Amino acid sequence: MVTVTIITIVVILGTLELSNAAVLHQMRRDQVTDTCRTNSAVSRKRRVLTPNDLKHLVVDEDHELIYCYVPKVACTNWKRLMMVLTGRGKYSDPMEIPANEAHVSANLKTLNQYSIPEINHRLKSYMKFLFVREPFERLVSAYRNKFTQKYNTSFHKRYGTKIIKRQRKNATQEALRKGDDVKFEEFVAYLIDPHTQREEPFNEHWQTVYSLCHPCHIHYDLVGKYETLEEDSNYVLQLAGVGSYLKFPTYAKSTRTTDEMTTEFFQNISSEHQTQLYDVYKLDFLMFNYSVPSYLKLE
Ligand SMILES: *[C@@H]1O[C@H](CO)[C@@H](O)[C@H](O)[C@H]1NC(C)=O
Ligand SMILES: *[C@@H]1O[C@H](CO)[C@@H](O)[C@H](O)[C@H]1NC(C)=O
Ligand SMILES: *[C@@H]1O[C@H](CO)[C@@H](O)[C@H](O)[C@H]1NC(C)=O
Ligand SMILES: *[C@@H]1O[C@H](CO)[C@@H](O)[C@H](O)[C@H]1NC(C)=O
Repeated sequence: MVTVTIITIVVILGTLELSNAAVLHQMRRDQVTDTCRTNSAVSRKRRVLTPNDLKHLVVDEDHELIYCYVPKVACTNWKRLMMVLTGRGKYSDPMEIPANEAHVSANLKTLNQYSIPEINHRLKSYMKFLFVREPFERLVSAYRNKFTQKYNTSFHKRYGTKIIKRQRKNATQEALRKGDDVKFEEFVAYLIDPHTQREEPFNEHWQTVYSLCHPCHIHYDLVGKYETLEEDSNYVLQLAGVGSYLKFPTYAKSTRTTDEMTTEFFQNISSEHQTQLYDVYKLDFLMFNYSVPSYLKLE
């Protein structure tokens, strides 16, 4: 009798927790919908999406999942999980997959690789989710990763040289050639320069989430947050029916970009540039309910 009661209580508590999560995620979805509606001029500039817009949507046919990956928001670990899910037994532990292998595009199928009817069917019936992060923390994380580390020169060559050429007066020949010492101030000036996005779309590491994942066109079932990464990730895995054997890898990355770090980086940015930068990322702030950072001095 006692045992039965205890089991009942545990089941009820479990259900309660689940419904709290369900309420939270419903609020997050509503926030996206409301932001799309009140900013329709910007958020729905284009009325329809083309397959080319769906390159970030990773598909898992076996569990009927679609994950829109956003760089600098735990996307390596989530790509690892998607490889476990789609691997049909090839992998069991996500951490056995090397990071660089998780980023080989041939290892995961994206939605743009399907025919239009197949795309529509999957968008309609699969569980769709994405993970977001405080926009300026993500931006500082991208800057630190791509411009302050020496191990990969491709971003220095591709973007650094361009940024220095455009933003630095009196740049040395060496800086112009290497592009490896971009200052955060110069990076910000490049992002707010209207020429930049007229020339080509932002690189995915600093592109807005709404431009990568199109949340005003695609109705995501679940918006996960970097700030509650493990909890939200395990909730997704639970909803996908794999929570009993697959968990989000726990890891403590000491080099992780924090709010304090972000505050420091923004100290050198003029309030004029802060205001313009906020405008570039404003929809991401609103859609995903991030408040205006307290360190900003907006005009
Ligand atoms: C938005 O954030 C505020 C403060 O962090 C919180 O109180 C509120 O519930 C959130 N709203 C949604 C829709 O998530
Ligand atoms: C360097 O970055 C580029 C662009 O992201 C990528 O294609 C390339 O594989 C990277 N190289 C190494 C050695 O990680
Ligand atoms: C550029 O360098 C020249 C010569 O060293 C100097 O006279 C000038 O003031 C510098 N301009 C700027 C904007 O730093
Ligand atoms: C801010 O600017 C100062 C002076 O140019 C520089 O020494 C410092 O490294 C900068 N801080 C950051 C976080 O970029």
